[in-house]
Amino acid sequence: MSAARRFRIAAIPADGVGREVVAAGREVLDALAAGSGGAFAFDWQAFGWGCEYYARTGRMMADDGLTVLKEFDAIYFGAVGWPGVPDHISLWGLRLAICQNFDQWANVRPVRFLPGVRSPLRKADDTELDWVVVRENSEGEYAGLGGRNLSARGPGSEVAIQSALFTEAGCERIMRFAFDLARTRTRPKVSSVTKSNAQQYGMVLWDDVFRRVARDYPDVETESVLVDAMSAKFVLRPEDLSVVVASNLHADILSDLGSALAGSLGLAASANLNPERRFPSMFEPVHGSAPDIAGQGLANPIGAVGSAAMMLDHLGLPEQAARLHAAIEATTAAGILTRDLGGAASTEDVTKALIDALNP
Ligand SMILES: NC(=O)c1ccc[n+]([C@@H]2O[C@H](COP(=O)([O-])OP(=O)(O)OC[C@H]3O[C@@H](n4cnc5c(N)ncnc54)[C@H](O)[C@@H]3O)[C@@H](O)[C@H]2O)c1
Repeated sequence: MSAARRFRIAAIPADGVGREVVAAGREVLDALAAGSGGAFAFDWQAFGWGCEYYARTGRMMADDGLTVLKEFDAIYFGAVGWPGVPDHISLWGLRLAICQNFDQWANVRPVRFLPGVRSPLRKADDTELDWVVVRENSEGEYAGLGGRNLSARGPGSEVAIQSALFTEAGCERIMRFAFDLARTRTRPKVSSVTKSNAQQYGMVLWDDVFRRVARDYPDVETESVLVDAMSAKFVLRPEDLSVVVASNLHADILSDLGSALAGSLGLAASANLNPERRFPSMFEPVHGSAPDIAGQGLANPIGAVGSAAMMLDHLGLPEQAARLHAAIEATTAAGILTRDLGGAASTEDVTKALIDALNP
């Protein structure tokens, strides 16, 4: 049957559990499309890039990979990294190569609490908790600036410099994105994460821009919190958070903390957005390739399926995204949980439950 709207999606499962959760996400999305009565469909193309490809070719992705990917409506990504390939090679060779060259400067990472999932957070039982980490995804501490050029000093005396880059334009666009997002939420509040007490150049610029941008959004509540205090606040006062905007490194760490508080890293979804839509955006679970459980059918697919819901939103299908979220909640509420959440269900069991919940 030919569908009214077709979306071209590039699937890059890459390594480890990335392959299992992307397969699960594709199955769920295809079930959603099959039940849409021909309203929409996905044209998938899978790319076998990652650490195995590197072992064969010496590259993490094809030479013309970015040119090929540019033609897609979106990219659905698994996770990259495998023992035997240094992590900085695999990350920079594939995931960061896509994020940076496609200017996916906003990385959106919601922290959702699900029914039936026990959080280690004491307050999670009696409070509505729901926040979004907005990560600056194009510069900051991951700008790749620095060097190890003094190796001539000999073993034991090497020196490395890793610099962070903060531009006024980079800070401003991510903060405006965070404020615009805050206006769509029940509680319009933006918390900026800083470390300007110790980092007196980049982080002070970050704070200055935050104060300036905030003046354009008088209806949005604001606060500026040091990253160390913010990590405590995630645990002790989570009900006070709505949108949390942070630099590349700070948000990377805080969003893992957030997903652990929600119950497991396996639940956390994320979107790497090019908001101007000059390039395809990329949707991926927050977690890595989990070599410790890969290939055993133990991976929790909910982070990948939640990322698929974010992709549906981005493609202009918000009601379908809501159906996917409802299916996730129905599945966890029914106690169909993988081992990371204390259950005994396999990746396949959860995938099947999600599909059943879509078409009850
Ligand atoms: N976006 C990415 O591609 C990305 C992100 C983080 C780490 N990595 C890479 O992944 C590799 C492993 O890194 P790591 O061990 O630090 O982080 P990880 O996220 O792969 O694993 C951390 C822990 O969480 C568990 N876990 C992760 N995903 C899960 C899932 N879906 N279901 C159940 N449990 C899950 C793992 O079993 C492990 O105990 C490294 O090579 C690293 O560079 C890639």
